[in-house]
Amino acid sequence: MVTEINDPHSYAKPSESVVKHLDWTATVDFDSKTITAKATLTLENATDAKNVVLDTKMLNIEKVTLGEDEQPTTFILGEYDQFLGKSLTVEITPETKYVNVYYTTSPEAEAVQWLSPIQTADKEQPFLFTQSQAILARSWVPIQDSPGIRFTYNATVTVPSNLLALMSAENPKEKNETGTYHFKMEQPIPSYLLALSVGDLEFRELGPRTGVYAEPSVIEAAAYEFGDLESMVGAAESLYGPYQWGRYDLLVLPPSFPFGGMENPRLTFATPTILAGDRSLTALVAHELAHSWSGNLVTNATWDDFWLNEGFTVYFEQRIMEKMYGRDYSEMLATLSYQGLKEEIATMTADGMAKDTELKLSLKGRNPDDGMTSIAYDKGYLFLRSQEELVGREKFDAFLKDYFTSNAFTVMTTEGFIAQLDEKLYKKNGLVMDKDNINAWIYGPGLPENGPVPSSDKFAKVDDQWTAFVGGTPADKLQTEGWSSHEWLHFVRSIPEDLSLEKMTELDKAFGFTKSGNSEVLSAWLEKSITHQYEPAYAKLEDFLVHTGRRKFLMPLYKELILTDAGKIRANAIYKKARPNYHFVATSSIDALLGVKQ
Ligand code: BES
Ligand code: ZN
Repeated sequence: MVTEINDPHSYAKPSESVVKHLDWTATVDFDSKTITAKATLTLENATDAKNVVLDTKMLNIEKVTLGEDEQPTTFILGEYDQFLGKSLTVEITPETKYVNVYYTTSPEAEAVQWLSPIQTADKEQPFLFTQSQAILARSWVPIQDSPGIRFTYNATVTVPSNLLALMSAENPKEKNETGTYHFKMEQPIPSYLLALSVGDLEFRELGPRTGVYAEPSVIEAAAYEFGDLESMVGAAESLYGPYQWGRYDLLVLPPSFPFGGMENPRLTFATPTILAGDRSLTALVAHELAHSWSGNLVTNATWDDFWLNEGFTVYFEQRIMEKMYGRDYSEMLATLSYQGLKEEIATMTADGMAKDTELKLSLKGRNPDDGMTSIAYDKGYLFLRSQEELVGREKFDAFLKDYFTSNAFTVMTTEGFIAQLDEKLYKKNGLVMDKDNINAWIYGPGLPENGPVPSSDKFAKVDDQWTAFVGGTPADKLQTEGWSSHEWLHFVRSIPEDLSLEKMTELDKAFGFTKSGNSEVLSAWLEKSITHQYEPAYAKLEDFLVHTGRRKFLMPLYKELILTDAGKIRANAIYKKARPNYHFVATSSIDALLGVKQ
């Protein structure tokens, strides 16, 4: 029945009344930038239930009724909290089965980004997408917005008749003239996986269960880039068991999407910045696909347990990449992440945030977005890798496969995971779990001693070329044949702080970094260009910042810019132009960084 998880980021009281199903009927209006909807929630109540409590943020609630016959009831909106929004408490009886909420979203709804035609690839039609994780679903649906609460949903969405609507559900493949689309999600999901996108979109089949949606001018490139998708699903299944969600499709969004990818069930949302033309950035797809097990099947109970979602997913992603492209390849990726992790731990520690370098977080009273650091991802990954290395891959894989199967469609706390690890990995195999070591990883700061250290022979060769270059070998004589974009990324990241402008120019001339079509290489080069005041890249930097909304790229560039007075002025001038192109998730971080008051 209803188990109580204490989620500091939700007003819901699921032990009194919990949402089991959502029926959502909505109309999307681009002119007013609002969604007008009726949400009918199916409840499961305690025998003495008096209220159901929902999360809302900036919703304009028109009326609330009970049951199929729309009986009147009373409701109260609570105090506004900047992160949590307002509770919506609706009076019910233990027998109440349905609550109907009639409402309109705010044009400022934080999950929703409304794009004008010029902000899209094709520049002809408007576009909309939502980003619900972590606690923004409540800005477009009144719901119990806690990852520990799962429900199924059906939706009927009406949009302008020349546009297609898609959700994290069973999706249409083409537009219809009425502009009304029906959706069904039969497996129970947490609210952060609710997603909607509306735009001039086309579908292209990639395999029997896989496909991609994108704007017409992007669909060709997208279909090429994700050509390995069907076999990737197979690779994932061969590791940890059957894919449980039916189809797996991708949606390539306009460039303002604030993340690389978002694991919306059945339909991963992805940034167009992974369209490198050579399939080199598809680890991100492996990551979002892996969430179909880690996160979407077995879900972190609260955002304090976020590492359970992301650490497992990075581990799984690495295993998919290893399976598909070999250990050499996956070790390059692991090494890049490891370097980033060590840097972030150093900065967080220096900034007095050492507490946030523990895997289990305490985000109460804070924005759960604060937990989105490489700790959850890459420290989480290293911890799981340390367990694999301790017991051997065979035992660890058997444990993980069973973990995903036996906990499917349930939630997991950090403590619950440790208990299962002890029982089903250690005791079951006649082994003894080293509790101190486990505690050091999970409740201790930074990286414990003697943990795994990824290493890459390929990168060692790249390092040799740096030695040669610094020692006087001209750039165009360096041995770079056959380098993948990961080797190039490692090369660019290794540019030393004291490299002369002359050498920067030489590198750019030989390798065309400022013109790079690979967003990872380009953004790393732009960061170095700021440090070295390499002016030939400035125009490109501005163009990139104005047209890309992926926060992971934006933050390091703005951070690097504001290190000098002149840079600060440039950062603010660029941000003024760029801000209207960014999603709330990005502006909230950059506003804070630049001290911009809204
Ligand atoms: N679920 C995350 C994105 C997210 C996390 C959104 C927390 C909001 C709050 C997604 O799976 C993710 O991790 N994306 C990464 C991809 C990467 C690690 C390959 C991203 O967007 O950079
Ligand atoms: Zn993720």
